[in-house]
Amino acid sequence: MIFCFSATGNSKYTAECIATDGEQLISIASAVDRNAYDYAVSDERVGFVSPTYYWTLPSIVSEFLEKLTLNYDRKPYLYYVATYGTTSGASASMAEHILRGKGLSFDACFDIKMPDTWTPIFDLSDPESVQKRLRRSTEEIAELKDQIGRKVRGKHMGLTTPYFTGKIGRSMYNRYTRNTANLKVMETCIGCGLCAKKCPVHAIEMKNGRPVWVKQKCVMCLGCLHRCPKFSIQYGNGQTKKHGQYHNPYTKI
Ligand SMILES: Cc1cc2nc3c(=O)[nH]c(=O)nc-3n(C[C@H](O)[C@H](O)[C@H](O)COP(=O)(O)O)c2cc1C
Ligand code: SF4
Ligand code: SF4
Repeated sequence: MIFCFSATGNSKYTAECIATDGEQLISIASAVDRNAYDYAVSDERVGFVSPTYYWTLPSIVSEFLEKLTLNYDRKPYLYYVATYGTTSGASASMAEHILRGKGLSFDACFDIKMPDTWTPIFDLSDPESVQKRLRRSTEEIAELKDQIGRKVRGKHMGLTTPYFTGKIGRSMYNRYTRNTANLKVMETCIGCGLCAKKCPVHAIEMKNGRPVWVKQKCVMCLGCLHRCPKFSIQYGNGQTKKHGQYHNPYTKI
């Protein structure tokens, strides 16, 4: 059983690659939608795969973990995989902290470097460097699958940061970044409604053929910005247009 949140496909692709034949993949976004927080576990392994946001967890992932209950007779091998662009920071420690509150802990934590979808800062406009990164990520995922298959224990992560940095990141993310006022729609919008349909927290509604943000805060996953067919949604700092759109080409999102 693998729980996964993914806005632009990196984490979904990772989860799909590490899943064994017939293993259940559970979308955290649709679980939250269905209020589905209780799971009977008979698998030997339970994984969580999530992007890193601000050195911590996407808000939807921390909310899901807070409410999650796993019921089992025999404790499964529990692992966490952070996908990230520059550093997974304290995201694994933040997830671990939530699980510890439930008397659970991860047997292992991993991370996988991917193209960095935070395009208010990072530039994904060069297809060659994106492809180069994805080739290396795919190699790293194959190694990860092997490690999970062997149920290795411990922290197998690149550069991480201490727990307190995750708390600082979370405070910036919650206070400033998650404000939907940061998102703007351009004149090029054709009113297709895809952004509203795909938003994991239903923060967008179509009104008079245009997307309108109806919640003050969202996950700020940038799924709407990256997946718009006309690239008509931009983030307020004016950098995203030149940094390009991205979704992982190896999975459907
Ligand atoms: C709001 C936001 C914040 C991010 N913060 C970080 C970060 O702190 N460190 C990092 O390495 N990558 C960061 N990223 C990049 C993503 O973690 C990375 O690209 C991830 O693989 C995206 O996963 P997905 O395609 O499954 O949504 C951020 C992306 C977003 C949208
Ligand atoms: S996905 Fe893009 S084009 Fe479609 S409604 Fe949203 S902003 Fe407009
Ligand atoms: S409004 Fe856009 S950035 Fe915010 S959660 Fe929805 S899809 Fe993600």
